[in-house]
Amino acid sequence: MREIYFESIDSTNTYLKQHYEELEDMCFVRTDYQSAGRGRKSRTWLAEKGESLLFSVLLKDEEVLKRYRELSVLSAYSVLEVLEGYGIGDLMIKWPNDVLVKERKICGILLEGISAESLRCIIIGIGLNVKQESFTGDYLNEPVSMRMILNEEIGMDALKDRIYQKLEDNIRKLKEGYDFYEEISAYDLLKGRKVKALVNDVFKEVSVIGMRSDYSLGIIDDGKELNIKTGEISFHV
Ligand code: BTN
Repeated sequence: MREIYFESIDSTNTYLKQHYEELEDMCFVRTDYQSAGRGRKSRTWLAEKGESLLFSVLLKDEEVLKRYRELSVLSAYSVLEVLEGYGIGDLMIKWPNDVLVKERKICGILLEGISAESLRCIIIGIGLNVKQESFTGDYLNEPVSMRMILNEEIGMDALKDRIYQKLEDNIRKLKEGYDFYEEISAYDLLKGRKVKALVNDVFKEVSVIGMRSDYSLGIIDDGKELNIKTGEISFHV
């Protein structure tokens, strides 16, 4: 595994987007500070210097790229498994890839793909709140950090190594055909809930059936069952 480290950079995802051609599969790019960190749905991702684990992973292996639908949820699950190892309970995944502790967001993930005729690479960008104790801004789910839950110092290097390792292991298992669905669906926060959602630009209440085995999200909208793919819906719970 190769790690590229920057004390500060605009965004680790943006770096990989600009350099994916010359970098190898499973290259990790980490930084202590992003001046233009990006979140899902064109939001900005703010984090105080050195307080969060901020990194991106480049995926170029064709077999892994074929399973791109699973990568979003699997990335969240990999972080969740490591957090459980630190003794953090009440962890859930809010589809497609937010990791929450008692409804508070501890980790956000931004997946980006680059296509030119075919899919060339996927970039998984992960922002995990580690030490930060106060957050400013408007949030759908209030943020929380590992420090706020565990009330102890967390060694950033050991944490980073555990998450890199877990991601590598899980991506290798995925490539070998392992099916994570049963394990992951146990952490489905939205399952069985009635939530307000923006479906095709219309804000309405829908009932969530839960994550499907193809990692789309089953919902009931106006009595009709729909399977939603990432990006087609945003939830307000
Ligand atoms: C979200 O919840 O909206 C996703 C947040 C993803 C943030 C991470 S931090 C590292 C990587 N670089 C970025 O610019 N974004 C991702």
